[in-house]
Amino acid sequence: MDGNGRWAQQRNRPRLFGHQAGARRVREIVNACPDLGIKYLTIFAFSTENWKRTQAEVSGLMMLFRRYIQKESQALLREGVRVRFIGDRDRLEAKLVRLMDELETLTAGNDRVHLTIALNYGGRDEVARATRRLAHEVAAGHIRPEDVDAETLARFLDTCVLPDPDLVIRTSGEARISNFLLWQSAYAEYEFTPVLWPDFTAEIFGEIVGRFSQRERRFGAIGH
Ligand code: IPE
Ligand code: MG
Repeated sequence: MDGNGRWAQQRNRPRLFGHQAGARRVREIVNACPDLGIKYLTIFAFSTENWKRTQAEVSGLMMLFRRYIQKESQALLREGVRVRFIGDRDRLEAKLVRLMDELETLTAGNDRVHLTIALNYGGRDEVARATRRLAHEVAAGHIRPEDVDAETLARFLDTCVLPDPDLVIRTSGEARISNFLLWQSAYAEYEFTPVLWPDFTAEIFGEIVGRFSQRERRFGAIGH
């Protein structure tokens, strides 16, 4: 969800104003999913690298996450959205983690759309944490080293219950991955759009998904 800062800057407003506008976009995009045939949507809200921003911006974002959960919980429940969070919760404030846990529990019975929010998430950090947990299992004698393969490691990732992404969309004109779902995106298609996240509408989303559905995916095999 990139481009909030520049969107605010263009309007001579503080960066947090852009983040607020960005947060308001989420509902429309989530609600567009069923009609587009999308069952799983993952949004990148805060990366393990975003702590490098000013303290004011970081605490503003944390406040926004708390407010978002409090404000949107009932609508998400009603719309059939099951919410999950991925990322390292250890560095997040206890109050926010409690709200995240509560929202996951509240929506656990939903199945219309599965929304995953990546919060304090980094692909490398996720693989490192998964490896650490796997190493404990090996050290405890529960898994033999020679049995460890890609599928074993995937079971320890935050995304263990989620399918790999088919399509990754990066907004705001940047053409890089920035540590998003590194492992899981091995065969994902990428789409880059110049649109800043606060301007990203359901209509633009639909156009991009339409383009994606025209692509031929071979997964390393040859075409027909
Ligand atoms: C939002 O966009 C991403 C978050 C970390 C919440 P940015 O804050 O990266 O916006 P730009 O890149 O400065 O425009
Ligand atoms: Mg950015």
